[in-house]
This record gives sequence, C-alpha cells and structure tokens, in this order.
Amino acid sequence: MYPRAPHAALLLFLLLTLVLSLVVEDHKESAYEKFQRQHVDEDSPSPYDDAYCTQRMQAKNMTQRTCKIINTFIHAALPSIDDICTGAGNNTHDNYYYSYSDFNVTDCTFVSGSPPKECMYSARFNTQKICIACTENLPVHYGPVSQCRP
Ligand SMILES: *[C@@H]1O[C@H](CO)[C@@H](O)[C@H](O)[C@H]1NC(C)=O
Ligand SMILES: *[C@@H]1O[C@H](CO)[C@@H](O)[C@H](O)[C@H]1NC(C)=O
Ligand SMILES: *[C@@H]1O[C@H](CO)[C@@H](O)[C@H](O)[C@H]1NC(C)=O
Repeated sequence: MYPRAPHAALLLFLLLTLVLSLVVEDHKESAYEKFQRQHVDEDSPSPYDDAYCTQRMQAKNMTQRTCKIINTFIHAALPSIDDICTGAGNNTHDNYYYSYSDFNVTDCTFVSGSPPKECMYSARFNTQKICIACTENLPVHYGPVSQCRP
C-alpha cells in the first residue's frame, strides 16, 4: 500500500529519534545524590533562620508541586556524614545508623503558603547526633532521631 522507500525512511527517522532521546534523556538522580540535595549544606553561612529555610527549600526543589512539610539540612562536609555508615555511627537496626558525634543541623518546618514559589518555612537550629539510613555504605535517607530507636 505504501511506497517502499518512504516507509524505510520513516523507520530510520523513528530509530534516530529514539536513539537521540535516549542520549539526551536527563540523568536520573540517585538516592545518594537526592540525599545530598535535600540534606547536606556545608557552605551556607549562618544565620540559619526562617529566611534561610524558605530560600533553600525552594532552591533545592522541595517546593515544586507541594511544600515539603519538614526537612533537615546538615551543616557538615559530606565525607563526615558518609563516615556514619562505615564506623562513625551505631547500626541501631536494619540499615539505620546513629552518629556517635554531634552535627549542626537546621530543621525547616513548613508554615504557610503555596508551591512552587511561596512556601514559607520556620527554622530551628540544633547541635545533635543524627540518624541516617545507608545503602551500600552511603547515606540515602535522613530520619528523625526516633527512627534510630530499635
Ligand atoms: C531543580 O529543578 C530544575 C528544573 O527541574 C533543575 O534545572 C535544577 O537543576 C534543579 N535544582 C537542583 C538543586 O536539583
Ligand atoms: C547501639 O545501638 C543499640 C541498639 O539501639 C544499643 O543497644 C547500643 O547501646 C548502642 N551502642 C552504642 C555504643 O551507642
Ligand atoms: C557548630 O556550629 C558552631 C557555631 O555555631 C561551631 O562553633 C561548631 O564547631 C559547630 N559544630 C559542629 C559539630 O560542626
């Protein structure tokens, strides 16, 4: 029914489109990368106040479709957090580890407003041991201290 040559050309075009879309496809964020984006902030200067939380929650894409209700930023270098998985923490249960030493953290709690640009947060700075879950010796989840109780 269809002429042979255009059919082949169409197939070739579809194939090229497929290959190209696979190459261009966005890099999928790993669990470890997501942990870093959501929870690690070594570099921001204090004060870790409400404005800090409101700004950083938006900058780190946690207010896109909904305002994330609570999120903690750890003010420490990534290796010192990674180490909790491999000796600097107590494996309390499953893959949960409770750090032996204190970390400076800021808990950001949603107050009001709507996504994507008007989520408002309040900040609470703490120096405390932290609870994380690890996969293949890398942190993949930040939990409240209660998650490190067996
Ligand atoms: C946030 O999302 C935008 C658009 O999806 C992306 O370009 C940007 O790199 C993301 N930022 C972070 C910190 O992941
Ligand atoms: C490690 O965690 C276990 C289980 O929660 C607990 O019984 C133990 O006392 C902890 N050890 C240290 C050194 O914190
Ligand atoms: C926590 O922050 C204080 C300053 O607010 C600093 O003096 C201290 O060394 C930090 N502690 C840790 C464990 O990073």
